[in-house]
Amino acid sequence: MSNRYTITAALPYTNGPIHIGHLAGVYVPADIYARYLRLIGKDVAFICGSDEHGVPITIKAKKEGVTPQDVVDKYHAIIKQSFEDFGISFDNYSRTSAKIHHDTASEFFKTLYDKHEFVEEVTEQLYDEEAKQFLADRFVIGTCPKCGYEEAYGDQCENCGTSHNATDLINPKSAITGNTPTLKETKHWFLPLNKHEDFLREWILKGHKKDWKPNVYGQCKSWIDDGLRPRAVTRDLDWGIPVPVEGGEGKVLYVWFDAPIGYISATKEWAEREGKNWEDYWKDENTKLVHFIGKDNIVFHCIIFPSMLKAEGSYILPDNVPANEFLNLEGNKLSTSKNWAVWLHEYLEDFPEKQDALRYALIANAPETKDNDFTWKDFQARNNNELVAIFGNFINRVAVLTNKYYDGEVPEPSEFTKIDEDTLTAVKAYPAVIASSIERYRFREASQELMNLARLGNKYLADEEPWKKVKDDPERVKTIMFVALQIASALAILSEPLLPFTSNKLKSILNSDGNSWEEVATKDILLPSGHKLQEGKAELLFKPIEEKDIQAQLDKLEASKKANEAANATVEPQKDTITFDDFTKLDIRVGTILEAEKMPKAKKLLVLKVDTGIDVRTIVSGIAESYKAEDVIGKKVTVLVNLAPRALRGVESEGMILMTETPEGQLVFVNPDNSVETSNGLKIS
Ligand code: 2FM
Ligand code: ZN
Repeated sequence: MSNRYTITAALPYTNGPIHIGHLAGVYVPADIYARYLRLIGKDVAFICGSDEHGVPITIKAKKEGVTPQDVVDKYHAIIKQSFEDFGISFDNYSRTSAKIHHDTASEFFKTLYDKHEFVEEVTEQLYDEEAKQFLADRFVIGTCPKCGYEEAYGDQCENCGTSHNATDLINPKSAITGNTPTLKETKHWFLPLNKHEDFLREWILKGHKKDWKPNVYGQCKSWIDDGLRPRAVTRDLDWGIPVPVEGGEGKVLYVWFDAPIGYISATKEWAEREGKNWEDYWKDENTKLVHFIGKDNIVFHCIIFPSMLKAEGSYILPDNVPANEFLNLEGNKLSTSKNWAVWLHEYLEDFPEKQDALRYALIANAPETKDNDFTWKDFQARNNNELVAIFGNFINRVAVLTNKYYDGEVPEPSEFTKIDEDTLTAVKAYPAVIASSIERYRFREASQELMNLARLGNKYLADEEPWKKVKDDPERVKTIMFVALQIASALAILSEPLLPFTSNKLKSILNSDGNSWEEVATKDILLPSGHKLQEGKAELLFKPIEEKDIQAQLDKLEASKKANEAANATVEPQKDTITFDDFTKLDIRVGTILEAEKMPKAKKLLVLKVDTGIDVRTIVSGIAESYKAEDVIGKKVTVLVNLAPRALRGVESEGMILMTETPEGQLVFVNPDNSVETSNGLKIS
């Protein structure tokens, strides 16, 4: 096993805050891996930072009427703080607007340029005549040439993950004006991926990369088998790192060229601060480089970035790229623009001190092999039925009984029974079991193994029943509690990578952090007799999550669904104008519904008797899908009384009830007291 690790987590775009999809896919698994490796004594650089260039930032800035710098400053601060509060243990969280990054990326580009690793070419690129700008990346949307998805971006299709050139899109449209782009000549620098095809085939397909996750290996194989083509690594944009060579004026580096170099510059920044040598982490063959990413980033980390590193020549290549699939939320795709998300900074406000509850729910249900769904009910169940009822319950029993029987002191055991011996042996096996899961990037499995250790503790106490034996066999109970305390101590150490806040709390309860991962596997005694637990009443390790807190989150989601629907609701266009005289011909009055019954065999119709103030008349109204007959009796309604009578299903209707429609499509009365919020203009029924 290697001794030095460079672990990178995808640099998040700073065009919005972090949500649970990012956490489950990238940051929680990466954090577990980094924490585990540190715990077993490895030299780790866990690196991340804000991805502050690229079109998504410019689009957001345009939308909000601010500068791109304003956007990145705002979200960099939110993201950095929320990661910190959530306990993601980056050694460095940098940003790509930092000078060290601009310098590193420029230098990297220049090295490849000087080595003639680029192809310089004048080609026709998509251009928006109205916006007077070239359309690259997210500035252009069209049909994916590979899968037919109609909203693919200029550089990538989010549906099938393919990375392509903007000119490959079928039926491209400008995301700025909606116009069909024209073609205009411009010079760019291309990374000839075709030149690296043999190397990639050798390295990924014939090399040792068979141990990569099947989704990652499969995608790489399919791209390589399809044949690779040159990719432009510069853009005609004004937000980004200026192209540092002659002829590059007015152009910037493609965001996917500069962003992965961000891993290198963030390592440099950290090494400078810590007095380390950054090259040890990027240029030493014995260092293991692991990229944690979501599945939409596979091509960039497995094909393009390795080709850049290889072309540069002095860097190591990734040992593994454990990309995850996507997490959905309550059955729908997470979406920043639709506000269909659980935002980390908001979660931390709503559930302070409950970082591990979210970590656990996300790990236990991580989208490791397929897309998965996060539901608030599952989150509650994971917390209440597993963390509280299993892990927390065991620790609480151990702490309470030790305080009660021995004044908080670990008792002296007498003879161990076979069950005690077997239990202690079983505990010693857990470090290897959990380690193996983590080392194979199976974090779900690791979380279940950790919970199994807590289950083992619970079962041991339930079988041995110290509370029943304490009077008659106090010596036996000392042994039982001694064994139980060893299990609790093992849990305190082994939970550190998965549940770091819990681990800390448990270490305080036990008043001990003296053991290592290795010692849990090898030492007979983790918590010696005579050791004193934390003074006073032991605090609870986990607290249940109440129904009302879950309901509040569901309500929040419902509100964003409604807001979205309202924003997307199509407003019927205005009808032809009428004259004032036309309008005054309408005789509209307030009436009261006296009787109502369903029209037989008609889904939509109610037959109403309405007191119009002039008379009581029959009106047939198409509102039966929105109202039951019995519910409209007594209602005041607005009635057009001078409409020529007309027969509907054999019943003569002598007027019309005025209705409007809610965003959900329900018809509601245009009430004289105006008490119902409505939209979509008048409807006449
Ligand atoms: O998909 C994204 O959010 C990108 N900002 C990830 C960049 S990863 C790296 F290469 F910087
Ligand atoms: Zn596609």
